[in-house]
Amino acid sequence: MKTVLSGIRSTGNLHLGNYFGAVKNFVKMQHQNKCYFFIADYHSLTTHPTPQNLHKNVRQVLVEYLAAGLDPELATLYVQSDVPEISELYLLLNMNAYLGELERTTSFKDKARKQPDNLNAGLLTYPVLMAADILIHNSHYVPVGKDQEQHLEMARKFARRFNNMYKCNFFNEPEPYNFGEALIKIPGLDGTGKMGKSEGNGIFLIDEDKTIRKKLMRAVTDQGPTTPNSTPPEPVENLFKIMKIVSDEITYKFFKEQYANCSIRYGDMKKQLAEDLIKLITPLRENIYRINSDNDYIRKVASIGAERARESAGKTLKEVRKIMGFKSF
Ligand code: TRP
Repeated sequence: MKTVLSGIRSTGNLHLGNYFGAVKNFVKMQHQNKCYFFIADYHSLTTHPTPQNLHKNVRQVLVEYLAAGLDPELATLYVQSDVPEISELYLLLNMNAYLGELERTTSFKDKARKQPDNLNAGLLTYPVLMAADILIHNSHYVPVGKDQEQHLEMARKFARRFNNMYKCNFFNEPEPYNFGEALIKIPGLDGTGKMGKSEGNGIFLIDEDKTIRKKLMRAVTDQGPTTPNSTPPEPVENLFKIMKIVSDEITYKFFKEQYANCSIRYGDMKKQLAEDLIKLITPLRENIYRINSDNDYIRKVASIGAERARESAGKTLKEVRKIMGFKSF
């Protein structure tokens, strides 16, 4: 059984793009691997959240991932800051991470441009903390999106460097977990690119029925086709893409045909898509509300997860300390 680790950003509500692009795959993954899912709250400190927001964000993310199907019986689900072994490994790895390579990281250079007045050392060593997250369980695989590929590459480099420096073969070089054909990209509702956090572009798992209807009514389209069998422009094609994933095949084909013969009324298509989205989202939203009101359950999940994560992390750290030459008197 392979160890798969996935780090989850500690802010933001889940939208359909996250759900189909990542979470549904996590839910499947947890049956086939030894999975660790954790909420990266230390990483979020790089942008200085208020103490009140810090906790609220972590809680919300935990609740929504549980609601979407992460199963604390199958996987180890924890909060990064509940596992102090990660911080210790981060300190140790920092000694073998070089200023030049950290400064050259794309994400760091981005921040240097965007927030020059808060270019803290946490941002510089962000990839080291991420490597510590991964290596602390000696993970084999990490599912990562495009924006995290370089960070994973650095974790591989730090693992390799440790093995070379101490002439051992202790750390695995973690590889990207490949979802294969299962990877689904959900476009946004504003006719541009993929679904994100921006207002109007995304449908969130906590959205109420009327919010979903309103968002669909506002979704970008055009005047409608005038020549038969034409290719829809991107915003309309995006709605078809969502429909293909969310609605049943008959419905999808029905509107495709109407588009092809120029009889389509976007209002009808949007109404249908809104109702199909509501069918999908309602049980997820209800899960969120149910779990959100159950403090005991949330506390139990977090504490069992932390306990299991610390057990595995402690084993790794003990070996690392031994390899590096730490000894007690
Ligand atoms: N940096 C990741 C992100 O922004 C989150 C993350 C932190 C992570 N530590 C990780 C992802 C370890 C994978 C493995 O999405």
